[in-house]
Amino acid sequence: MTAISTDKPAVPDVLAPAQLGPLRLRNRVIKAATYEGLSHRSRVTRDLVDFHVGYAKGGVGMTTVAYCAVAPEGRTDRHQLQWTDEAMPGLRHLTDAVHAEGAAVSAQLGHAGPVANPKANGFPALAPASTSTGPR
Ligand SMILES: Cc1cc2nc3c(=O)[nH]c(=O)nc-3n(C[C@H](O)[C@H](O)[C@H](O)COP(=O)(O)O)c2cc1C
Repeated sequence: MTAISTDKPAVPDVLAPAQLGPLRLRNRVIKAATYEGLSHRSRVTRDLVDFHVGYAKGGVGMTTVAYCAVAPEGRTDRHQLQWTDEAMPGLRHLTDAVHAEGAAVSAQLGHAGPVANPKANGFPALAPASTSTGPR
């Protein structure tokens, strides 16, 4: 029977730096996307910046800006963050503020499809099927 070596831990130290593609994270703690509801008119607000800077100050390796819609009809409400030229200065500011605290930041890009809110968005919801479970 071969003895199992205990020299190298099977799981890396969660507080050890990590390489994520081109990014060097200071540790492996990543704040998951949890929809903040802190954007206004689909742009970054001071509260949204403060929310993520708080996690950076708390020591995470990376924080995640939740749900940034790729199109106006892909929002679940009309204030939801949207990836537009107009939103870029706010996103840049948020990114710089998080980086200043030593953390990285990512953004979750998405399209709400059948669960978008056409009434609030002022656009019809677009999806490959009329239900979220798809055709039967
Ligand atoms: C209040 C709340 C909001 C969330 N918003 C998002 C979101 O915007 N995008 C997303 O992908 N997941 C969202 N999630 C899911 C979380 O990112 C996470 O995957 C989930 O809470 C499971 O994490 P756990 O396995 O650590 O419990 C949300 C969860 C909660 C509780």
